[in-house]
Amino acid sequence: MSDVASRSGAGDSSGRGTPQGAAVTVAGLRLTIDGKPILNGIDLELPRGKVTGLAGESGSGKTMTGMTLIGLQPDNAVVTGSVLFDGRELVGLPAREWGSVRGTRIAMVFQDPTASLHPMLSIGRQLTDHQRHHLGLPKREALARAESLLERVGVPDPAGALKKYPHEFSGGQLQRIAIASAIACDPELLIADEPTTALDVTVQAGILALLRSLCDDLGLTVVLITHDFGVLSSLADEIAVMRGGVIVEHGSRYDVIRQPTHPYTRELIESLPMHELAEAGALGAPGASEGTE
Ligand SMILES: Nc1ncnc2c1ncn2[C@@H]1O[C@H](COP(=O)(O)OP(=O)(O)OP(=O)(O)O)[C@@H](O)[C@H]1O
Ligand SMILES: [Mg+2]
Repeated sequence: MSDVASRSGAGDSSGRGTPQGAAVTVAGLRLTIDGKPILNGIDLELPRGKVTGLAGESGSGKTMTGMTLIGLQPDNAVVTGSVLFDGRELVGLPAREWGSVRGTRIAMVFQDPTASLHPMLSIGRQLTDHQRHHLGLPKREALARAESLLERVGVPDPAGALKKYPHEFSGGQLQRIAIASAIACDPELLIADEPTTALDVTVQAGILALLRSLCDDLGLTVVLITHDFGVLSSLADEIAVMRGGVIVEHGSRYDVIRQPTHPYTRELIESLPMHELAEAGALGAPGASEGTE
């Protein structure tokens, strides 16, 4: 971990398959596009069942990292290094094998929820198609499951919502539906790329609380990509900071905020309002930051 300020408590790599182990271990991940370096050796462990926040300035490679984890990097990208997911190497995984990983074991939600929903298909159709295809569920069972998924993500009147189309929902509700679709096949890893950036501020907190609760209740490993360090300071278990295609700092939220080692992290922290620092436990005693919402 050459470029990373490593800390105890960050990304325990002991024992795959244990709740404490790393769900994903990224090592020396590099990505170039037409010879231009974009990711320059990412080393990162994502602890199972935790929210890891990925922060960093625009263009630092956050989205490209997330896309590479799910095998959706641009066609002309060259990827080297290692992404180990449950003992399986994802770098260089043949396209046909991604079918059993992407959307089922690793899922992603984007800034714009309409990007992952088809405008002409009912919500019920979209949620059930996915499950019937991947889980082989009969229609009736898939519909019942879709309804409970919508209930789980806090969409009002789930049975009625199944009959509606994307344009009939607000942005916040659509993002909840996109999250329902992402978790429909019980993935282990959910990558959320700026999931609240396009939403009204009044609904942002609800979506973040939902992601936090999915992590806590379902044991989902979450990567929360955001340029908003304040969000991570109150929500993430661990924070990784990117700059220029590398991780410059990674550790528990508490350690990163309380004792940043990289000047760029310090800048991010100094830009936080006082109340967010307090919420993150940066001004209090260790342990004061353990609450999630
Ligand atoms: N399809 C692409 N082709 C070529 N270069 C790309 C492509 N997508 C992204 N890049 C470049 O890769 C670098 C990293 O971009 P990325 O989108 O990962 O940044 P980011 O950290 O997510 O930024 P933001 O906070 O603005 O979303 C940038 O220099 C960007 O211009
Ligand atoms: Mg981005």
